[in-house]
Amino acid sequence: MAQTFEQTEETRRGRPNIMESASVFTENPTHQRGILTKPITAKPTRATIGPTGEQHSARERRVTLENRHGFPIVEDDIFWSRELEDALPKGFSEVEADAWMDRTRKSQVTSMHWATWRTCGQGKNKYVRLTDGSTVCARYRHPFTLQIQDQILSDPEWSSWAAWAVNTETHVFNVKSDTCTSFVLPKGELYSYYLGRLLGIDHVPPVVLAVVNGTAPLWLRVGPLLPQMQWEQGVLVALIRWIDGLQRGKMPVPLLEGEVSGQDRRLLAMGELQLQELVQWSDLIILDYITANSDRVASNQDAADLNNDPVQMRKYIHNLQKSQHNGAIWLIDNESGLIDGYMLLKERKNGGRFTRFHRTMLEKMCLFRRSTVKRVEELYSLGTGAAEFLLRTVADHEPLAGLLPAVPPRIHLDRTLADRIAHVYNRIRHCMLANMSSMY
Ligand SMILES: Nc1ncnc2c1ncn2[C@@H]1O[C@H](COP(=O)(O)OP(=O)(O)O)[C@@H](O)[C@H]1O
Ligand SMILES: [Mg+2]
Repeated sequence: MAQTFEQTEETRRGRPNIMESASVFTENPTHQRGILTKPITAKPTRATIGPTGEQHSARERRVTLENRHGFPIVEDDIFWSRELEDALPKGFSEVEADAWMDRTRKSQVTSMHWATWRTCGQGKNKYVRLTDGSTVCARYRHPFTLQIQDQILSDPEWSSWAAWAVNTETHVFNVKSDTCTSFVLPKGELYSYYLGRLLGIDHVPPVVLAVVNGTAPLWLRVGPLLPQMQWEQGVLVALIRWIDGLQRGKMPVPLLEGEVSGQDRRLLAMGELQLQELVQWSDLIILDYITANSDRVASNQDAADLNNDPVQMRKYIHNLQKSQHNGAIWLIDNESGLIDGYMLLKERKNGGRFTRFHRTMLEKMCLFRRSTVKRVEELYSLGTGAAEFLLRTVADHEPLAGLLPAVPPRIHLDRTLADRIAHVYNRIRHCMLANMSSMY
């Protein structure tokens, strides 16, 4: 079914549920401002009474695809089966993540190690051990390099944004920020984690912010080492929970080959682990679409496009790691999501390309976790208020969030986030209509 990129009646009216509304893929809906600009509860109000919500448990689900052993794979046409969901490897629950954050803030750093490409990346990032024996990647993005500022400043579309970045950074970081991209990265990491959390995706490593301060309890033991580690006092770093036993991962073949839907016969030949991998990819695709993450699948797509080399898609996917123990897919290094990713979408040179990359991935999957769909519906119901809800969630959990510079107005976070949630919402609705079996 062809998808169109126009505004719909119900987008204007707002808040239908997936079952009630007609199929459309909105590109630039004019969202109502402030539908729920000040969410009061910890979670937004549930918008749906469709098959994704709690009412579902009261009625029988329909298994719409099962393998020859009678194992349910798909139910109600577009949802991964309960059996597959139940067997998924568990990540960190919100309670576990909060407890880790609390412990980390109260902990002490016992040793710091230079990052390598296998441990925490490049530059001045560090692999850091804490008193409780746990480890974190510390992202240190300071001082920033000059690589892209000239390009941005010479682009009239970008010069006002660059001026804004240079003006605003000084009260946050001691030293002048030189690249606009690096400047927004810690924010992307933090916000992407919380957006994943709002979507119920529990395989994004939790993040806490910390200010480097050799005399504060967290850094006291390594205080004298900081200068030789080339870290300056007062710099804001992101501490990201280290996950043991990971290895690189690739895109599952069915996604490389085309769209995966509830009627896909290829699913019948797959083992449970392969199916679980696809289930996790259905979440990955939604998170990366909403955050416009340019450094995961989109990075491979970029290489494939630039080199006219589709084989790039069969290589390891950037910032995707698989657990050697249980096959869990961990979405690491999310600094290119939400802020940097949205900036890229607005860039004259690459915006169109990355818009296309993200859309291509979104259109590859027509199967979803029921819980994720419910969360998408909830966020969709907030319209442009979703951004404020996200910001509030971040502020409620991260006391240092206010030290990060404001979101660049240039990216229109509220509208862009609402649009991207709407695209996912409409994609799910499209899948529902396109795959509806005759029993409906
Ligand atoms: N939270 C983490 N848990 C486990 N391994 C990680 C984690 N973060 C990074 N790594 C490992 O370090 C490598 C580089 O880290 P990454 O955050 O992607 O840095 P870069 O900014 O250089 O891309 C990853 O490919 C992965 O092997
Ligand atoms: Mg990386």
